[in-house]
Amino acid sequence: MFSRHFSSRLLFFTRGLRTTASLKMPIQVGQTLPSIELHEGTPKDKVNILELFKGKKGILFAVPGAFTPGCSQTHLPGYVNDYLKLKAKGFEVIACVSVNDAFVMSAWGIERKATGKIRMLADPAGEFTKAVDLGFDATPALGNIRSKRYAMTIEDGVVKSVAIEPDATGLTVSLSCSILNE
Ligand code: BEZ
Repeated sequence: MFSRHFSSRLLFFTRGLRTTASLKMPIQVGQTLPSIELHEGTPKDKVNILELFKGKKGILFAVPGAFTPGCSQTHLPGYVNDYLKLKAKGFEVIACVSVNDAFVMSAWGIERKATGKIRMLADPAGEFTKAVDLGFDATPALGNIRSKRYAMTIEDGVVKSVAIEPDATGLTVSLSCSILNE
């Protein structure tokens, strides 16, 4: 805790003024997920992301936006189609997160037949995405800060692997087939 805090902040001394600037880094292998509440189904239904993976082996993948072509035609369907293979590899929880509201995430999950397989989690204010430092400015296409596309494997709340798309939105390292080949 101390070392993470220490290494992620720089002190600046300017003309007698002491200021701090955060130098954040994406969540790393070996770190524990932040304890943050996401929404599932409706804004009233909260899911603490750390609790969700407590004592479990799982996958958390993130998308820039529900219903966008890459997320809807490739990324989410890959995890839906590979669900049984991923279960057979021991993954007990598979969750998808996006900076969208709970109603949109829920409708998207139903439309993509993810119900009962993939937990469709909404991060409406981007609080989780900010905490893991995996946001990017998608204003030109989607209007605000969104999540980079990534996939991480998790055991008992601790990150075991992280694959972040190098250009934030590509469809390579974060696909279900990449996890199956790990
Ligand atoms: C996509 O198709 O996944 C996508 C579209 C626009 C912005 C980001 C992602």
